Amino acid sequence: MEEKRQSIHGQWSSRWAFILAATGAAVGLGNVWKFPYVTGQNGGGIFVLIYLACMILIGIPLMIAEITLGRCGRQNPAFAMKTIAQENGISQRWRWAGAMMIWVGPLILTYYCVIAGWTLAYVFKAGRGLFHGIDAQQSKMIFESLIASPGSLLFWHSVIMVMTVIVVARGIEKGIEKTVNVMLPTMLVLLLTLVIYGMKSGYFMETLHYLFAPDFSELTSSGILVAMGQAFFSLSLATGTIMMYGAYLPRDASVASTAVVITLADTGVALLAGLAIFPIVFANHLEVGSGPGLIFMTLPIAFGQMPYGSFFAILFFLMLVFAAFTSTISLLEPAVAFLIEAKHFSRKQAAITTGFCVWLAGFGTIFSFNIGKNFQLFGYDFFGLLDYLTANLMLPLGGFFIAVFTAWRMKKAFLRQEMQLHNGLFFQGWYIILRYISPICILIVFAKALKII
Ligand code: TRP
Repeated sequence: MEEKRQSIHGQWSSRWAFILAATGAAVGLGNVWKFPYVTGQNGGGIFVLIYLACMILIGIPLMIAEITLGRCGRQNPAFAMKTIAQENGISQRWRWAGAMMIWVGPLILTYYCVIAGWTLAYVFKAGRGLFHGIDAQQSKMIFESLIASPGSLLFWHSVIMVMTVIVVARGIEKGIEKTVNVMLPTMLVLLLTLVIYGMKSGYFMETLHYLFAPDFSELTSSGILVAMGQAFFSLSLATGTIMMYGAYLPRDASVASTAVVITLADTGVALLAGLAIFPIVFANHLEVGSGPGLIFMTLPIAFGQMPYGSFFAILFFLMLVFAAFTSTISLLEPAVAFLIEAKHFSRKQAAITTGFCVWLAGFGTIFSFNIGKNFQLFGYDFFGLLDYLTANLMLPLGGFFIAVFTAWRMKKAFLRQEMQLHNGLFFQGWYIILRYISPICILIVFAKALKII
């Protein structure tokens, strides 16, 4: 089939390049840092169960929709939705849904970058042999002294931001593809090493039970909201990231199987992270619900006891930096593409402008761990509120718009042709889930969590 449109920013070299880049965007701090601590805060097994259900009922269908929209529109999310709306004879106001999504990525990046900075700081701490033989108390102190220092946080945050801007400014083909090729497999091997260490800790069965035997008495509506938000966050949905990456996808690649591969990889890494971290938590009597510092307080203990632990620790945190890095890029890309397409910035100007704004806004998160710790709004600190607003509210809202736009407003024949899905049954199944199940699930979870019903 002939191409009707091309992205002005170029194209992936193959379907696999896209899979790797999208998996790179998906796999990140969300899997290794966030998934374990939100699981710990929300009841373990029951959270994992709801998370997996969200992946199947909402994540995969939306991922397919978002890739399709991107590949069809081949522009930033706002323009893509406008063009597709035009071609389907529906209101062009849908572009505002795309425009909202463009904002969410940089907003997430303001805190994501700070946390990525922690991982970079930990590479150097590992290098100095700080973890050697430490106990839980010492590990906690190392972490707490890092976040208590605004200067250090600012320094590491700045390093990550500058690196992100440089790669985004260089464009799609050169930077991202190559980094991911090496980084993803290496991280997997290291994660497996930690899981094996966990198996030998004597608390592996307890971990399996904690993660996979749901205790329904721990079910809360806010837990369900967080699980849904985490599914969106982890798959990088609803900020236009996947749409933007889809815009660079060659037309002959299968959207559906691509989406399934990405989701499986992403979920696999999150579960492995859980299996690596919880045995250490239990063995050292750490608090499962201790929050954002969880992996930083647990993993160094394991590394500190391993032979060649400092070496593995350096490698692991370095991989985490890379994993975070392939995500930071993806969080910036839609906004950068928008500035290029709509305001005629050069790629370099666009990357620097957005990067600078995000860097500045990152101060809010940095201070919320130290000098601004006591500042509270609606019962959250600045970082907590930003995380709640973006991951738990804005992402699901964006997902809702995508589902309604694709499955209720676009013409079915148009969609079928865009997707080039030859299996009619699969198309029907996907269409029905995206039309009825995904948006309704999102609405119910919203209504429950906001205490409307
Ligand atoms: N999914 C990434 C992670 O798990 C973070 C991320 C990258 C993201 N791009 C995104 C989250 C877009 C939401 C939207 O670490």
